[in-house]
Amino acid sequence: MKKINVVASATVYDGVSELPSGIQTLMNKAIEARNNAYAPYSKFKVGVALLLENNQVILGNNQESAAYPSGMCAERVAIWKASSDYPGVKVTQLVITASSSNSIVDRPVGPCGACRQTLSEYEINQKEPIEIYFMGEVGQIVKTESLLSLLPFSFDSSYL
Ligand code: THU
Repeated sequence: MKKINVVASATVYDGVSELPSGIQTLMNKAIEARNNAYAPYSKFKVGVALLLENNQVILGNNQESAAYPSGMCAERVAIWKASSDYPGVKVTQLVITASSSNSIVDRPVGPCGACRQTLSEYEINQKEPIEIYFMGEVGQIVKTESLLSLLPFSFDSSYL
């Protein structure tokens, strides 16, 4: 028996003004997307902007349903839009923001487990990392260099 270390590293920015200018632009688009989310039940709106290597920006936001499990997270809406409209085009950066009408979201909101799994499929297929930036409505922004760094011991097609 031995113990191994599983290390995840991330960069933390203290505010949007510290971000590289291209990421600030993506964050503004993610905020726009967030404001258009359809989240009447949770009141928790999530917006995503992702940049493709052909310079197209794809937006996504969460879409809820009165039959709750039938809704969908912003990250999956965005990645599926990207793959549907631009199949096989690599994703270079993905930016996430979340807000709530119940309280101010002042902590970075990372993608949920199911979204990490879904996103990992595309990162593995494209053989190049996707930079992930995530924040709440205000406050710090976390950046990871890849999706897989958010998903240690992940499951992928090599097991099938
Ligand atoms: N949500 C996302 O869009 N992305 C996440 O990673 C976490 C949760 C949405 C789903 C639901 O509409 C609302 O936030 C509350 O869970």
